[in-house]
Amino acid sequence: ITDPQTNKPNIVDIHTHMYPASYIKLLESRNTIPLIRSFPGHPEPRLVLLPSEVPLLSNPSPSHPPGRPLTEAYTSLDAKIAFMDKHNISISVLSLANPWLEFLSTSPDPSSLLEPALRINVEFEVMCSQHPGRLYFFGVLPLHPENTLCALPLVLSMKMKFKHCRGVIIGTNGLGKGLDDPDMEDVFEMLEEDDLPIFLHPHYGLPNQVFGERAEKGEYGHVLSLALGFPMETTVAVSRMYLSGMFDKFPKLKVILAHGGGTLPFLAARIESCIRHDGYLHKKEKEGRGKIKRSIWEVLNSQVYLDAVVYGEVGLKAAIQASGERGVERLMFGTDHPFFPPLEEGEEEWGSVVMNTEAVNKGLGEGSKEARMVLGENAIKILNLEKP
Ligand code: URA
Ligand code: ZN
Repeated sequence: ITDPQTNKPNIVDIHTHMYPASYIKLLESRNTIPLIRSFPGHPEPRLVLLPSEVPLLSNPSPSHPPGRPLTEAYTSLDAKIAFMDKHNISISVLSLANPWLEFLSTSPDPSSLLEPALRINVEFEVMCSQHPGRLYFFGVLPLHPENTLCALPLVLSMKMKFKHCRGVIIGTNGLGKGLDDPDMEDVFEMLEEDDLPIFLHPHYGLPNQVFGERAEKGEYGHVLSLALGFPMETTVAVSRMYLSGMFDKFPKLKVILAHGGGTLPFLAARIESCIRHDGYLHKKEKEGRGKIKRSIWEVLNSQVYLDAVVYGEVGLKAAIQASGERGVERLMFGTDHPFFPPLEEGEEEWGSVVMNTEAVNKGLGEGSKEARMVLGENAIKILNLEKP
């Protein structure tokens, strides 16, 4: 797929978020994170999402309040389309950004999640139908610890009613106890049956304590939690899912990992080694009480897909290699828009797009078949999108 006028490859962005209107309303009504709040002296309301920002909320610095400016890039479909046009992105697979509806899962009534989830998915479906051929979406699920089956009607309607839905975005928490929770089996079964891939995305990072006092005071901005906490969170979640045997139980379930799999490509061999040298697991296997059937590499080569949001050639190549002999068929380009906007006034090109496309072009050769696959063709095949 190449644009006949510019001769540039058409790009498909599978990692690109929005907060539709009903979600913004929800956040505006809250006083614990995630929330939207205005701070004196700052014209734009701020979006405060991250657990690492909680200590800053009670005593906000007047010059650097917590969160990030809530610009129209987060909320406006026109802004999304303008961003796509500017960066030669033909198709975007939109998703609600973190933390989805997880803050409602403490409500005593599981069905209270249904209405907001349904509304958000309808909002995404409507957005997609306004730009035929250019937009698809990953839906949101009403996951509640008390009732896994409350997701059922929504999953069913995703396939039947939401023409543009190509999977679901979920966090690492699942129903509250992670993705190795036996109660997640109902959810995985539904998604496998309906062939709806999971886009697994981090939100919580690592406990603040890991990063130390200076980070807690905000001295390093969001760098440690976003650069290190997020990828580690994804790695832990998918490793637990693997160790619990979920991939063996649901061998047709597809999982797309955000940010090139976090650190999984780098750590997969270490995970394998730790399994092989673990006395407890060894004993369990000998006693016939559970064995992981396939190596983590086999799972990476068959059920896991990685996005290419890694910002550099080294990580990109690792992600491809970790995904097997035909690993180059399993990576899909993404931008993480609208996060990481340019910070200088008048800067129009987004560094996230430039860094991620350069990683692909340098790593695979600009204009090569492989580069075109990662930039768009893989997503078209894997997510069953219409060719531009
Ligand atoms: N990227 C995301 O998707 N979410 C964040 O909160 C920050 C960066
Ligand atoms: Zn993201």
